[in-house]
This record gives sequence, C-alpha cells and structure tokens, in this order.
Amino acid sequence: MRPLIIALDFETKQKVDSFLDHFHESLYVKVGMELYYQEGPKIIDYLKEKGHQIFLDLKLHDIPNTVKQAMKRVANLEVDMVNVHALGGSRMMEAALEGLESGASRQQRPTIIAVTQLTSSDEQMVQKEQMISLSLENSVRNLARLAKQSGLDGVVCSAHEVGIITDVCGESFQTITPGIRLADDQNGDQVRVATPQLARKLGATGIVVGRSITRAKDPYRAYQQVKSEWEGVYE
Ligand code: C5P
Repeated sequence: MRPLIIALDFETKQKVDSFLDHFHESLYVKVGMELYYQEGPKIIDYLKEKGHQIFLDLKLHDIPNTVKQAMKRVANLEVDMVNVHALGGSRMMEAALEGLESGASRQQRPTIIAVTQLTSSDEQMVQKEQMISLSLENSVRNLARLAKQSGLDGVVCSAHEVGIITDVCGESFQTITPGIRLADDQNGDQVRVATPQLARKLGATGIVVGRSITRAKDPYRAYQQVKSEWEGVYE
C-alpha cells in the first residue's frame, strides 16, 4: 500500500467534521499535535469509528524511558502509524519500539517511523543552527540508517531524499514524504517540496498532504488531483 495521507491540521473536531463532509470514502488521515492536544485521544476513536486509517504524528523526542512509556500508552490507541524524531538517537528509537510492542494489544503493532530532518529545514539551518558539519542530504542518510538499525519501519523525509535512503536502507524501508504541493500552490513554511507526481517518480512509499487539500477552495477536487498525480493516472 502506498498511502496518500491527509494532514488534519485543524483546531477542533468541528472543523475536522466540516472538512470531512466533503468526502464520502474512507481516508488515511494524519492527526498532529494541534488537533491531538486540543481534542485528546477521543479524536482517534472518533476517526476510527468513521472508518479512517490514522497516522498519529506526535514526533516523540525525549529520554528513552519516557518515550518507551509514552509509546505504551500510544499503543492502546490502536492507530496505524506513529513516529519519533531520529535525532533522539538509537537508544531512544529502540525504546520507542519496545514500548509500542509491549503495549500493543492487537496482533500487529502500528508502523513506526522516524522524522529525519524536517521538510521545513534547509542546508543553512542544519549546518549553522544544528552545527551539523554534514550536508543536509548526508545528515538525512545518516539518520535514516540509524532508524533502520534501531528496528524502525521507515522514515519521514522529503521526496528528494528518497533515492539515497532507499540505497542505504533498501526498498522495503518506508519513505513517507510531507512537503507536498500541487504545482500552483504556495510553499508556506515548507522548503524541500515536491509535487505528488514527482514524489511518485522519486519512489516515495507514501505522501502526507495538508494545506494543498485542506485549504483548497474545493478540498475534494484538490484531493482527486493529488490522488491522480500520486497514482500516475496522467501518464
Ligand atoms: O500543510 P502541509 O502539507 O505543509 O502539512 C504537512 C504536514 O506534515 C504537517 O502536519 C506537518 O506537521 C507534517 N510534517 C512535515 N514535515 C515533517 C514531518 C511532518 O511537514 N518532517
């Protein structure tokens, strides 16, 4: 499965409902910090009851024990995908996986992936602020390798880094790519962007799309356009 994941970056459940009213099908949605911190775990149950698959994007990054215990609680929510920051290190990622596995009540645990470098970061930020002497691309490659060695299923990265990650981590390692924009859309705060079509060509295993769909005048139409580019309908 190569999911097209819609980022439900809304303040409240009411706003989520107004958005979802445009759709009459099951979706793969992402619940991030904004919605989760406002609505709490009940928003997960609500979306599951409506038949949607869920990526819970809380980007955990703390000491290994705290992340492990947090992941045990997250496991109870029975979402489909969760994540951590690879910058938390291999011990933290291993602990996250352990927590998720020990907390999961159903047979299959959720997919767990790690954020490498945020798609809003650029070369200068990585080198001048994080003081990483590697290029951004090499930093992403290094973090992806670390995530793979820690037993994780994949990473969050930009579409432009999919090739180098697949070279190092193999085809079955997931590359979920945000920073997706339709050709005429504004980048906003995102830097390393790609169209759904380019993400597909570069071999991304999944895309995360927020504002290009959620802020479109006609969200359903925008979704259909993203979907057909992502599925290669135009070629
Ligand atoms: O609106 P937009 O398409 O830029 O939204 C992208 C979504 O993906 C946001 O919810 C953001 O938090 C998330 N994300 C990201 N970059 C990452 C990880 C997650 O943009 N590296």
